[in-house]
Amino acid sequence: MKSKTSLVFAINGERFELELSSLDPSTTLVDFLRNKTRFKSVKLGCGEGGCGACVVLLSKYDPLLEKVEDFTVSSCLTLLCSIDGCSITTSEGLGNSRVGFHAVHERIAGFHATQCGFCTPGMSVSMFSALLNADKSLPPLSNGFSNLTAAEAEKAVSGNLCRCTGYRPLVDACKSFASDVDIEDLGYNSFCKKGENRDGVLARLPCYDHNISSQVSTFPEFLKKEIKIDMNLDPRKYRWSSPVSVSELQGLLEVENGVAVKLVAGNTSTGYYKEEKERRYERFFDIRKIPELIVVRRDDKGIELGAAVTISKAIEFLREKGDVSMLAKIAAHMEKIASRFVRNTGTIGGNIMMAQRKQFPSDLTTILVAARANVKIMSSGGSGQEQFTLEEFLQQPPLETKSLLLSVEIPSWRPMMKKNGSSSSDTHLLFETYRAAPRPLGNALAFMNAAFSAEVSLSDRNIVVHDCLLAFGAYGTKHAHRARKVEDFLAGKVISDEVLMEAIGLLKDEIVPDKGTSHAGYRSSLAVAFLFEFFGSLTQTNAKATNGWVNGGCKEIGFDQKVESLKRPEAMLSSSQQIVENQEYSPVGKGIVKSGACLQASGEAVYVDDIPSPDNCLYGAIIYSTMPLARIKSIRFKENRVPEGVLGIITYKDIPKGGRNIGTKFFNSDLLFAEEITNCAGQIIAFLVADSQKHADVAANLVVIDYDTENLEPPILTLEEAVEKSSFFTVPPPLRCKSVGDISKGMAEAEHKILGSKISFGSQYFFYMETQTALAVPDEDNCMVVYSSTQAPEYVHQTIAGCLGVPEHNVRVITRRVGGGFGGKVMKSMPVAAACALAASKMQRPVRTYVNRKTDMITTGGRHPMKITYSVGFKSNGKITALDLELLLDAGISEDISPLMPSAIQGAMMKYDWGALSFDVKVCKTNTVSRTAVRAPGDVQGSYIGEAIIEKVASYLSIDVDEIRKVNLHTYESLRLFHSAKAGESPEYTLPLLWDKLAEFSRFNERRKVVEEFNATNMWRKRGISRVPAIYGVAMRSTPGRVSILSDGSVVVEVPGIEIGQGLWTKVKQMAAFSLGLIQCGTTSDELLKKIRVIQSDTLSLVQGSVTGGSTSSEASSEAVRACCDGLVKRLLPVNNSLVEKTGGPVTWDNIISQAYQQSVNLSVSSLYSPDVSTGGYLNYGVAASEVEVNVLTGETTVLRTDIIYDCGKSLNPAVDLGQIEGAFVQGLGFFMLEEYLMNSDGLIVTDSTWTYKIPTVDTIPRQFNVEILNSGHHKNRVLSSKATMPVVKEFCGLDVVEKYLEWKVQQRKNF
Ligand SMILES: Cc1cc2nc3c(=O)[nH]c(=O)nc-3n(C[C@H](O)[C@H](O)[C@H](O)COP(=O)(O)OP(=O)(O)OC[C@H]3O[C@@H](n4cnc5c(N)ncnc54)[C@H](O)[C@@H]3O)c2cc1C
Ligand code: FES
Ligand code: FES
Repeated sequence: MKSKTSLVFAINGERFELELSSLDPSTTLVDFLRNKTRFKSVKLGCGEGGCGACVVLLSKYDPLLEKVEDFTVSSCLTLLCSIDGCSITTSEGLGNSRVGFHAVHERIAGFHATQCGFCTPGMSVSMFSALLNADKSLPPLSNGFSNLTAAEAEKAVSGNLCRCTGYRPLVDACKSFASDVDIEDLGYNSFCKKGENRDGVLARLPCYDHNISSQVSTFPEFLKKEIKIDMNLDPRKYRWSSPVSVSELQGLLEVENGVAVKLVAGNTSTGYYKEEKERRYERFFDIRKIPELIVVRRDDKGIELGAAVTISKAIEFLREKGDVSMLAKIAAHMEKIASRFVRNTGTIGGNIMMAQRKQFPSDLTTILVAARANVKIMSSGGSGQEQFTLEEFLQQPPLETKSLLLSVEIPSWRPMMKKNGSSSSDTHLLFETYRAAPRPLGNALAFMNAAFSAEVSLSDRNIVVHDCLLAFGAYGTKHAHRARKVEDFLAGKVISDEVLMEAIGLLKDEIVPDKGTSHAGYRSSLAVAFLFEFFGSLTQTNAKATNGWVNGGCKEIGFDQKVESLKRPEAMLSSSQQIVENQEYSPVGKGIVKSGACLQASGEAVYVDDIPSPDNCLYGAIIYSTMPLARIKSIRFKENRVPEGVLGIITYKDIPKGGRNIGTKFFNSDLLFAEEITNCAGQIIAFLVADSQKHADVAANLVVIDYDTENLEPPILTLEEAVEKSSFFTVPPPLRCKSVGDISKGMAEAEHKILGSKISFGSQYFFYMETQTALAVPDEDNCMVVYSSTQAPEYVHQTIAGCLGVPEHNVRVITRRVGGGFGGKVMKSMPVAAACALAASKMQRPVRTYVNRKTDMITTGGRHPMKITYSVGFKSNGKITALDLELLLDAGISEDISPLMPSAIQGAMMKYDWGALSFDVKVCKTNTVSRTAVRAPGDVQGSYIGEAIIEKVASYLSIDVDEIRKVNLHTYESLRLFHSAKAGESPEYTLPLLWDKLAEFSRFNERRKVVEEFNATNMWRKRGISRVPAIYGVAMRSTPGRVSILSDGSVVVEVPGIEIGQGLWTKVKQMAAFSLGLIQCGTTSDELLKKIRVIQSDTLSLVQGSVTGGSTSSEASSEAVRACCDGLVKRLLPVNNSLVEKTGGPVTWDNIISQAYQQSVNLSVSSLYSPDVSTGGYLNYGVAASEVEVNVLTGETTVLRTDIIYDCGKSLNPAVDLGQIEGAFVQGLGFFMLEEYLMNSDGLIVTDSTWTYKIPTVDTIPRQFNVEILNSGHHKNRVLSSKATMPVVKEFCGLDVVEKYLEWKVQQRKNF
């Protein structure tokens, strides 16, 4: 057989051939795509398989069957060498601006399903793959639909994260292909026109045709021919080889004594064990071509799955053979492992080995232990094959590196023999699996998983357990664990409440998380809940109907039927949007598609890290402190060996003469690098520069910092310590909170008081999909051009100039678009850009960095944690008369934007009339990473504090909380008292109107009754419904703009506002088209819209740009552009008039411009919009109602339905505003229900990855999501932050509910 020397594969139909000798086998596909090809649609969001930004379609061809297999993979975990002979399709390969976009791209755009666009190429590929595979297996439909069902469409993007959209429009875009969907039921989009019939809509939908779709040609013909030629890599010549038999592998391993070798299957384990990516292996053996390892077989004895069978293939196989319900259940559970794009390459064997060798909290091992699975092992010593039960195997010492797991066998179930020896014909096997995790559909490790099998039979109306196997895993022990004492106890028992109670007692001693496991009590309670659900129904033959059992508010009305399942049947997602498009200023007010939406979907939109590296470019990585307060003694490398590719480490000592060590500039400046002392864990100490990003990141991990804390005060790590040491930042007087009314009088008027009650908050990380990034390029004459992903180019600019000690005109900061900001790219982008600029200045070479997710999470801080103590006085009807509130705000180590927080919190809190309000805020300085603006900073917390107080009053008075809210809503008079000038005129106060409208819109009162009934008849699942108001105080800032018209009539617009996904460019374009259209020539505003381009922000071109944030940049930028256009129209009118006079009819825009050029009319106008007192601030209103269901045993919380009415004033673009409202709601939902941004005892962030930090996914959004945008008056676009439910519900659930219930039941029976 001829041996090959290179890898051959295709990307988007192009052939690539790479010499193996020159390849580092640890190179990932994403590295290659992003650094060595022009296909930049593939984004790096996490590098650990947790986000989907890097998803590509991988296609394999089977020359024997002549079949192409297409599936998604995460390119950040896929090794480049493993794609030999494969074809890769990225989003730009599906379609693009040159050859035409794919229907997937166009529908994403038309359904307004892209905002910042960073996740969108990955979403597009996931959707395409779902369509392709649905249409492959079934005959194509001729009506433009796919065979994909709506239910499958909902799952198509279930592993892909999006922080902007709230997922609803993405799901709708995907569902629009499904043949079983009613197209009119889908959300607001640009294809359906009001009142139009279905055929009209279908004609407008971008064409989807199975045949056209397959024309994307996922596998090129040339590659098919090449892989027919039977050639293999010479296994001894290269670091990467793919043996084709177990014996070949064994032979190779034997020769490799003493050499670091790695067996590779899907390589997805490196997403969890990230250090593996950095370990140097001499040899990699790809085991996926060994036939014994990819076998799937079923015979009498059972099922055999080769170790290299992927989880997806295993699911498919088990489903096919799923006539046995146990197999179907195993398959269903396996669908919750990771996400589809991980399961497509992750193997059964890889998972088991992770669990066996490294105690990975595996689902697979738990369910396979319960299925009594066996494993076959080939030991390294050549002692042949051995077989163990999986349970035994897990308990053995870690399998040697060179030993091989061959396969797993799930034996067929054979009924046990009865005690008297006769075979039991009436025995049944019960098998069930359980999983409690932050996300229902997977892509989240479980808090606990479990699988139980029990052989039972019916005897005299009793259920007898003959034998059972109870496996629990992932709850904080080394391996899946069998509750053997419980198993032994239950064997031979008749299932009754008493027996179950005793079993649970034993279980609680047996299933105990190891010390230090998070949420340990909750995890233990899950074990009880799962066991109870499994056996609970079996006690029912003896159970009597019962009434009136009350425990912790749970009331049972009847338990004489089958026990209610803990698993709620999943309803399909649904939504409605009511939006009024405002035609008055068209195209302003129209819900037009976001500018550049298709480019974002195809992945052609250019973000900072997509800009090709200039020649000689270097790469930086941040080195941060892990100590809260310590002297930095030295910075060195492990083993004092300089790692590969490192060129230097930049510290504060490298700041040039005349420059200052500054990394941010706002109220005050803050350090770029810690100097002698580090003041918090996460503080930047140095910037390592290397010849590639990978080398820089690897080397940064090898840096050792020697600290010393001698004679230093202990760090301040808590708010209490800050108070004790009076460690506070000063809030400038104009930003301080102002008391309202007379608090003593208010308290005196009160009939009831709650004194000294407490509320506290944790933090929230931005989780923008694009982490911090910058590229600095030195220019002539000591100038520096910096491309920065920032929301505040002007401040980045000033920071860099200050740091380098150069005049500001030596610096230019350019920002085209940002892959999500949420406030995190205001302050936190500055040190990143400054570090690149400083390194570039020192090395006189371009320097860039793309901060990895972990470093980003550790160094950027997030929302301000806070503690609140309040006293409230109120009347018996719930009317609050006085609120006295003290708030401790954790600002971290530096001031940042923290002085703005108190007034923001107070502003949001003042959505209610508190009678009198006294508000004392201390902005505490602690030795923790600086906290900053995160979407609606202060508003989110203020709103929540207000609601928590209202709820407390309601519970004190035992009055429905909705009544308390209503009675405390502002009158116009009280609104003026609390908000003074911002309150505007009386008709502008629309909150009471929204309050009533929402009740109608959401059928609030009717549903309240239904909720009550539900709670009365359901014991373990409880529902709640509530409606909350929101007030947001808008503060406009001065903003410049420039509009220039080019000779062909095309228009270029410059605004300082950054496109961070909020649709700023689109609104600005609409405003420019409307304003230029006022010339009333023969070209309509809609036609003008196509001529307008908003260009990147450039701080030397447009000065005084300030910050994009606070939800006002679109409006302010639009105002600035309107002024520019007005100026242009004034200049162009005489030209137009004279042309009309000459020609006697309307003149086209192009003609006017051509004439204006000839007449040397100045066609570039700048302006500075500067708000005055009357326009600088106003209030916006919204009301939301959410219905939430909590599983009392497992804490699983589902938002069943959310209705929002938001008064957008006169929306500039309702489609964009709708996206902002939905996205912000879902981000708020993440804050209150899922996300935990936690620190260790040194203040170092420990939830620093997609594994530990869980943002909402498509399966955690409201099942029904309705939004109405009211068009009432002033212009506004803002985020609506709302909270739906209590924080960390899981901590309040589970625990000992089951035991109490059983105790009560047993007692009842005794009394009977
Ligand atoms: C984002 C993400 C989420 C996840 N969520 C879950 C989850 O919720 N539940 C869960 O159970 N799992 C989860 N996983 C784990 C996932 O199932 C495993 O990563 C996957 O199955 C590993 O298979 P692989 O082929 O990629 O292994 P690889 O990464 O190729 O190998 C893993 C290790 O095993 C060794 N190895 C592989 N095959 C063999 C063999 N046959 N014999 C000896 N050694 C071998 C390798 O050398 C390596 O050390 C998740 C993974 C990711 C990336
Ligand atoms: S970058 Fe690969 S999954 Fe996040
Ligand atoms: S559009 Fe999805 S992350 Fe921004």
